[in-house]
Amino acid sequence: MLSARKEGNIGSIFANSFKGELPVRYADLKKEISPKDPSVIQNAWVRLESSFEKEAPQIKALGSKIIPQVNYQDILNGEFPSNMKDEIKKRGCVVVRGIVPTEVAEGYKQQVLDYIAAHPGQIPGFPEHDQQVWELYWSKAQVEARSHPHFVQTTTALNKLWNAQEDSLVDLETNLTYCDRLRIRKPNDESFVLREHIDGGSVERWEDSSYRKCFSNILAGEWEKHDSYDVANRLDAKMQLYDAPGGCEMFRTFQGWLALSNSNSGCGSLRVCPLVKETTAAIIMRPLLQDILETSSMGGAYPGTQIDIDPVMLPQVTDICVSIPDVSPGDAVFWHCDLVHAVDSKCLQSNDASVFYIPATPLCNINTSYVRRQRETFRLGLTPPDFPGNNAEKDFDDRAKPEDLSKLGKLGMGFERIEPKHKLTKGAQAAVDKHNHVLNFD
Ligand SMILES: [Fe+2]
Repeated sequence: MLSARKEGNIGSIFANSFKGELPVRYADLKKEISPKDPSVIQNAWVRLESSFEKEAPQIKALGSKIIPQVNYQDILNGEFPSNMKDEIKKRGCVVVRGIVPTEVAEGYKQQVLDYIAAHPGQIPGFPEHDQQVWELYWSKAQVEARSHPHFVQTTTALNKLWNAQEDSLVDLETNLTYCDRLRIRKPNDESFVLREHIDGGSVERWEDSSYRKCFSNILAGEWEKHDSYDVANRLDAKMQLYDAPGGCEMFRTFQGWLALSNSNSGCGSLRVCPLVKETTAAIIMRPLLQDILETSSMGGAYPGTQIDIDPVMLPQVTDICVSIPDVSPGDAVFWHCDLVHAVDSKCLQSNDASVFYIPATPLCNINTSYVRRQRETFRLGLTPPDFPGNNAEKDFDDRAKPEDLSKLGKLGMGFERIEPKHKLTKGAQAAVDKHNHVLNFD
């Protein structure tokens, strides 16, 4: 089935989902995955708290300035500057300035506004009475932006911050395309509010055995050894056991968006907790602390939703959230798939805050499988598989079609065979071979 989800809009991720007592199996699961000696986690937590105490003053003092910023021109041959890599990895986020020229980004926004105006009353969005997050995927501007050569370079550089083993079934040098929607947030809007959360599933992080392996050092009380950039167990992780609204089936090394307007810091934009390893350790260890170890509580994680970070459960995490700096049309921001982030409660600026959502999604089996289904929805103008099945663009003559794709667009969208430019590792070559086979390029 191409689009398994029912009709709707992004409001489904704001809807109150179940937040009551979890089934007893979660208490059993915690017993199973905790170290036999409870002091192991307690001691690890003490060390983690002192790390937060050490890092927090600098984050609070610098605010937005703590977030690494790179000019697009400094990303050469699909690599971030070597003196920036460690800081981007530590913070788990980066602002890339001028990923596309200002006039190109402003042109994208105008094209989308024209596309919306050409189809009055035919495009669902959120909120329904004053649409700002549009259920649109196939405007020519979105399709072009996703495969803009600079975007492809940047997402490749982001993927390459991750580590793959010789036999890991992933090609970090090839980014596939994930087709998401867009936001044109109006001044004074208060509808699009997301408090601190992480995406990529919820209780799945503990419950799915592969996903759990990504955090095995943390669960063993050795959070200092955790590598947020080890791709190994991500490739088999099941991030969606409960069909959560807003869930993403593809493996995103980084989530991201391209700014189409000026967006002032703290005025309706993104906030992040710029310390990825420590915040991940806190979230993963929290259910195993003594105060709730014997209960079914997962520290604020519930099936079928994103993980909202509870400021009572995890004050050290919510306490270090900072706003991203001011951004201009053509800038982009990316944040690690485990990074806690939030959206300001009010759009406090005189112009709209508009973005295309575009993540970094390397070639690997789960991404290939999604791209195969996404390719078919693109051909038919249907909503991509992860999103509410509105299929609003099906009969729009002015939507993008496969023949509009550039060479890079064809590669990312699965319309052309991937031919590696140089010798790959065994695992990467196997992932590419599988990709070409699944997409019928044998
Ligand atoms: Fe999110």
